[in-house]
Amino acid sequence: MDPNRVFSRYLTTRALLCYKEVYAFYAMTKSHSRPFLREILMPLLPTIKQLLALVPEQQSVTVRGWVRTKRDTKQSTFIEVNDGSCLSNIQCVVDASLIESAEIKRTLAAISTGASVEITGALVPSPAKGQSAEVSVERVELIGEAPTERYPLQKKAHSLEFLRELAHLRVRTNTFGAVARVRNRMAFAIHQFFQERGFCYVHTPIITASDAEGAGAMFQVTTLDLEALAKSGKPVDYDKDFFGKKSYLTVSGQLNVETYCQALSRVYTFGPTFRAENSNTTRHLAEFWMIEPEVAFSRLPDNIALASEFIQYLVRTALDDCAEDIAFFDQRVQPGLRESLEKVVSAPFTHMTYTEAVRELEKSGATFEFKPYWGCDLQSEHEKFLTEKIAGGPVVVTDYPKEIKAFYMKQNEDGKTVAAMDVLVPRFGEIIGGSEREWRLDILEQRIESLGLSKEVYSWYLDLRRFGSTPHSGFGLGFERLLLYITGMTNIRDVIPFPRAPRQADF
Ligand code: 4AD
Ligand code: MG
Repeated sequence: MDPNRVFSRYLTTRALLCYKEVYAFYAMTKSHSRPFLREILMPLLPTIKQLLALVPEQQSVTVRGWVRTKRDTKQSTFIEVNDGSCLSNIQCVVDASLIESAEIKRTLAAISTGASVEITGALVPSPAKGQSAEVSVERVELIGEAPTERYPLQKKAHSLEFLRELAHLRVRTNTFGAVARVRNRMAFAIHQFFQERGFCYVHTPIITASDAEGAGAMFQVTTLDLEALAKSGKPVDYDKDFFGKKSYLTVSGQLNVETYCQALSRVYTFGPTFRAENSNTTRHLAEFWMIEPEVAFSRLPDNIALASEFIQYLVRTALDDCAEDIAFFDQRVQPGLRESLEKVVSAPFTHMTYTEAVRELEKSGATFEFKPYWGCDLQSEHEKFLTEKIAGGPVVVTDYPKEIKAFYMKQNEDGKTVAAMDVLVPRFGEIIGGSEREWRLDILEQRIESLGLSKEVYSWYLDLRRFGSTPHSGFGLGFERLLLYITGMTNIRDVIPFPRAPRQADF
């Protein structure tokens, strides 16, 4: 080998080893007092969450973030800074001796709630209650001002309605920061759950020509010039449209993910889905995210077990890894939240069939806006009653009448019901909808025909039943419904960064 290459390899190896050693040393000392190490080895500064986890021993630290409050006393100025890494702010204390400098005085005067700052100082034990460390400030820099008369998020509490109008700024509040962190952790936990169990993540398409749920509430996708068409008064020729046929935004990735299930056995999709139903409720969005696992050779009882284990895993992860945010929701948003979540993790879910559920509702003697009867679609008031009054926790309801469920669900022997499975939770009802799939070709074809659906549109889906068909099942978890459940927030528009709902597409 060329001696030059040997030497250059040697140098690279040495450099890597050296980097590793220095990094290990840096981590060991947990110190930020070596600016050269910080600049060379740490492209990212420690976050406030990381700083607050350190033992304060006068080490030099740099804090970058947004000012939550600034307060003056005779001896000092207190600046609370937050960078979104955790709910807690870090308190930065500017001593009066420092304030004597005219420059610092000017900077402090310009710092107000919402401004961005960079502060350097020593991390010291804090005498204040509820925090172990604070920064004894040596240098303050105002990076971006937020003039008090114009910045809308002043220190007082704001209503969620008011903040909905400020979706671009609301994440700077405690509530929305906490929602964002829980949302992030749950998205990651979803992948962890499935990856640990040998599932393959499949990217199903957003644009589709088939209606997965057969419910007809789809957004159409077109590049046709609607205004010109309206003026011409002619019928629409979809052959001239972008895809040469009518196409839509998907309501569910299920039909596509089933194709991968029939080769990879255990799969899931996790992506945005769209529904154009005009439901102006606190539980519906026009654009929401859904997690849809699908398992080959799996029957309804396996599906129930997977769904329960999945929800319990997510709740446990939230309790363990988002403890500070959950404590905040428990205190400020939904008293009793943590206790109810802890119960969910430890107890098995109640299971009843649809027929049993309707019987329970009928015999309860409770008054409902919609009177329950066998054959009715369970309303959210019924679902709340079953979970809150009867089970005192999540309920899995199975075997619904086939008329109120999608065409792909496996028909039961009784000819009246299908092997459907909904998971209902207290406070708002349905969080998961799923089923065992109809895997028998002749029965699925009959069902498609009897519903007046097109066998041509679903021909590829029917192929899965023609070639190597297997019993299989799966479900869809609404990601924002999960977040409502875990955070205790009550309006689904507050658990997604930029909600899309009827007449609402701002930001
Ligand atoms: O019950 P759904 O309609 O089931 C399906 O779409 C199946 N294809 C899933 C499957 O088996 N792979 O929807 C599943 C879940 C609901 O339980 C609910 O949590 C959520 O999606 N969901 C909505 N979330 C927010 N806004 C809406 N408009 C929603 N519609 C359904
Ligand atoms: Mg459903």
